[in-house]
Amino acid sequence: MENLLCFYIFSFWIFFLIVKLSLAADTITPARSIRDGEKLVSSSQTFELGFFSPGNSRYSKYLGIWYKKSPETIVWVANRNSPILDPSAVLTVSSNGSLVLLNVTKGIIWSSNISRKVENPVAQLQDTGNLVLVDVIRKNTSESYLWQSFDYPSDTLLPGMKVGWNLKTGVEWYLTSWRSADDPSPGNFTSRLDIHVLPEICIYNGSVKYFCTGPWSGVAFVAAPSYTNFLYNQELAHNQDEIYFSYESYNSPSIMMLKLNPSGTVQRLIWNERNAAWDVVYSAPNVCGVYGKCGANSICILDKGPNCECLKGFKLKSQDNQTWPGKCERSHSSYCKSGDQFIKLDGIKAPDLLQVSVNDNMNLKQCEAECLKNCTCRAYAYSNLTEGSGCLMWFGDLIDISKTLGNFTGQSVYIRVPALGPGKKKLLWITIIAVLMAVLLPAFYIFYRWRRKLRESRFAERRKVEISQDILLLDTNMSIATRETGNSKESCLPFFSLASITAATDNFSGENKLGEGGFGPVYKGKLNNGEEVAVKRLSSQSGQGLEEFKNEMMLIAKLQHRNLVRLFGCCIEHGEKILIYEYMPNKSLDCFLFGLLGWEMRVRILEGVAQGLLYLHHYSRLRVIHRDLKASNILLDSNMNPKISDFGIARLFGGDELQSNTKRIVGTYGYMSPEYALRGLFSIKSDVFSFGVLVLETLSSKKNAHFYNTDSLTLLGHAWNLWNDGRAWELMDSILQNDASYPMLNRYINVALLCVQENAADRPTMLEVISMLTNENVILPSPLQPAFSHVRIAENSSLPANCEVEACTVNCLTLSAMDAR
Ligand SMILES: *[C@@H]1O[C@H](CO)[C@@H](O)[C@H](O)[C@H]1NC(C)=O
Ligand SMILES: *[C@@H]1O[C@H](CO)[C@@H](O)[C@H](O)[C@H]1NC(C)=O
Ligand SMILES: *[C@@H]1O[C@H](CO)[C@@H](O)[C@H](O)[C@H]1NC(C)=O
Ligand SMILES: *[C@@H]1O[C@H](CO)[C@@H](O)[C@H](O)[C@H]1NC(C)=O
Ligand SMILES: *[C@@H]1O[C@H](CO)[C@@H](O)[C@H](O)[C@H]1NC(C)=O
Ligand SMILES: *[C@@H]1O[C@H](CO)[C@@H](O)[C@H](O)[C@H]1NC(C)=O
Ligand SMILES: *[C@@H]1O[C@H](CO)[C@@H](O)[C@H](O)[C@H]1NC(C)=O
Ligand SMILES: *[C@@H]1O[C@H](CO)[C@@H](O)[C@H](O)[C@H]1NC(C)=O
Ligand SMILES: *[C@@H]1O[C@H](CO)[C@@H](O)[C@H](O)[C@H]1NC(C)=O
Ligand SMILES: *[C@@H]1O[C@H](CO)[C@@H](O)[C@H](O)[C@H]1NC(C)=O
Repeated sequence: MENLLCFYIFSFWIFFLIVKLSLAADTITPARSIRDGEKLVSSSQTFELGFFSPGNSRYSKYLGIWYKKSPETIVWVANRNSPILDPSAVLTVSSNGSLVLLNVTKGIIWSSNISRKVENPVAQLQDTGNLVLVDVIRKNTSESYLWQSFDYPSDTLLPGMKVGWNLKTGVEWYLTSWRSADDPSPGNFTSRLDIHVLPEICIYNGSVKYFCTGPWSGVAFVAAPSYTNFLYNQELAHNQDEIYFSYESYNSPSIMMLKLNPSGTVQRLIWNERNAAWDVVYSAPNVCGVYGKCGANSICILDKGPNCECLKGFKLKSQDNQTWPGKCERSHSSYCKSGDQFIKLDGIKAPDLLQVSVNDNMNLKQCEAECLKNCTCRAYAYSNLTEGSGCLMWFGDLIDISKTLGNFTGQSVYIRVPALGPGKKKLLWITIIAVLMAVLLPAFYIFYRWRRKLRESRFAERRKVEISQDILLLDTNMSIATRETGNSKESCLPFFSLASITAATDNFSGENKLGEGGFGPVYKGKLNNGEEVAVKRLSSQSGQGLEEFKNEMMLIAKLQHRNLVRLFGCCIEHGEKILIYEYMPNKSLDCFLFGLLGWEMRVRILEGVAQGLLYLHHYSRLRVIHRDLKASNILLDSNMNPKISDFGIARLFGGDELQSNTKRIVGTYGYMSPEYALRGLFSIKSDVFSFGVLVLETLSSKKNAHFYNTDSLTLLGHAWNLWNDGRAWELMDSILQNDASYPMLNRYINVALLCVQENAADRPTMLEVISMLTNENVILPSPLQPAFSHVRIAENSSLPANCEVEACTVNCLTLSAMDAR
């Protein structure tokens, strides 16, 4: 009996020993090797190293590294060229200091090729996914490694890895695709940093260019997205030793990678914990990305039918057979006579840098003059996109131009076009225009007078007029939507039946009510499939209901971004107008502003809001100005990700329209820019103002509209005074004092003060705001005194301060309609 007990105890002991060995170890020494079935696990369980069989192949084994959460996705392979065919291979460290993979007869299958003699070699799998070889493990990790797997990338770029060049040794770091999903041996595609002229990353198919990202814009490569910059920090580092591209995750535990697939596409993958699967956040090349897809002197436009188009001033050579890639040639014989001009193309990936000249000391005017002098010069642009300076000129044919998508950086290039046709034609046009003007001008004048009279007489009924105008606006949108989807009007958004909504909200029961907004109550609902939703029911009495409702519906249906609240659908039945949104369990930001959030969370929320606004202003297909950005319109999902809500009063803008004027001012006091509150002028800069206020509120936990100091200062005035006294950090909520980073806080306050400057033109755009917030190297300008530094202005106006702190709801839906002046 006792023997049996002893045996059990002994077996448990052995068992634990084995478990401990196979779980805990992240190192290999000459005395400790691993073989098939065993693994190394990095110290915080992020990465594993072991033997695997790729894809469907069962017999050949490789030594690789993968994320513990996703063992199928291999991020690094040691023996790409020499599969292990014999199951008894071991990985060990040879006594002379090489990491070696040995077969049963101790023949070398793969080795790390260290030639230096080492005393106590140790290989360690680090939490970054880097397998390093060191001479005795030391605490000081910044010391150089004898060897590291990060120096020999496979097809995957992990955070912290580099693509580029060691300028001292001439060693290049680049990705090489697998041959196929079943075969890790080097395939035909490589992704490398081209430092020929301006650094850019290109994918090569063998030695042929397949895709290029365009040069570095300061935040991203011009044909790669920057909108995901809040997930990771990309950098292009250049010093005398090395030049490389690399990225770091902002939230350190996030699992992400950049992978070059066997088919030549590069994908940015981020692990989605909820689905336990990889999300593809970016994939390249798209149709237009393929290098030289349209041939010389043409531009590829993704959302146009045949994609390819000759540049202005060029015609396709084989006119009878319009096939691409073709060669576009100058359509005018009068090429390079006096009168040549340049047209500016915005938001494009510039031509490949085949035959170029760079001069960092010229400005754009000099650049143009220089280019004009030389007939072979076909285009020019800034050479330093980060700074917006210097001169880059292209000579000869222009290859690989494409229009970048809305949410990519893009750049501006000036392309040479011949002088407009011969003189005769010009004269004809001038005559036509003159005649038209002579007829039209008086007509316009009469029409204008008549309109003005009409307007004045209808001043009292303005609201009615505006509704019809808005419906007009709406109809234009509808037709855009219809054209895009090719379907009927209604199909752009799922429609819910009233019965299903009544059931979901338990007949709009009081218990399910989340709050009351300016134009109706909001309920929590549960759909048949168990999904929780927020149901916004427009009150029938609300005069603005219909217009607001339709506007919001149309807008939100088109906008999709992780920092915008998603609209699931709507319901129009029996006079009811109802919107169904995703449900945000964590209510709105104003509920949290008072003491619950830590520093990092606040920063993350502000970054999310900035990204959402950036999307609305610059990257959504239709420019949208929110006009009522405030803490209660920032909702938080279960992971505390911020989402901007309530586009009911957002205005729709056509492409270039930057500013507009309205008689009806809708918004919330404290967040409104002076030009909007006083004159009804709104632009993206009025949202920037609101964002600045939001930043100050979020950092200080004080409400702008409610903040009264003894000398009647607003929060803006208070922040400005502290800033001028060099005591900006006193603005910070005292609960943050232990974990905030002071340089970062200073940066945030500086940017916020820039955002709330009196003069709209002085305020930065959201793109600049994000660049200033996330990039420590950007030198920030000094802010001027903010608008509304004193409460006096508030006393003059009869603006209600909506959405009290106490009345914090899921969505305050504050809406205060009022007249200007
Ligand atoms: C082990 O490797 C050596 C050298 O690569 C080779 O000569 C030998 O045949 C291999 N042994 C087996 C059993 O594969
Ligand atoms: C090590 O060196 C040998 C010969 O110099 C070479 O064939 C092999 O590819 C090298 N292995 C690695 C992993 O670099
Ligand atoms: C190190 O050891 C490996 C095998 O153990 C051998 O192939 C290699 O030549 C040795 N290198 C040196 C510098 O001794
Ligand atoms: C770590 O190593 C670096 C480079 O060798 C050295 O400059 C630094 O002083 C070391 N730090 C410590 C704490 O030993
Ligand atoms: C790589 O390119 C060669 C031609 O250069 C081709 O024969 C081969 O099939 C290609 N390999 C793959 C995996 O596409
Ligand atoms: C890569 O090049 C090979 C020929 O070298 C060609 O057959 C293949 O289609 C190319 N792949 C792509 C994706 O363009
Ligand atoms: C135009 O293309 C068609 C097939 O696409 C071909 O049959 C025809 O010969 C071409 N014509 C010329 C002039 O190249
Ligand atoms: C125009 O530029 C090209 C390319 O730099 C150069 O070879 C040529 O000499 C220049 N011609 C004149 C007239 O400057
Ligand atoms: C642009 O100019 C800045 C400042 O002079 C410099 O730091 C940066 O390296 C330049 N970028 C490029 C791509 O030359
Ligand atoms: C980027 O823009 C394209 C087309 O404009 C769109 O399909 C895509 O969803 C956008 N991506 C994001 C993250 O906004």
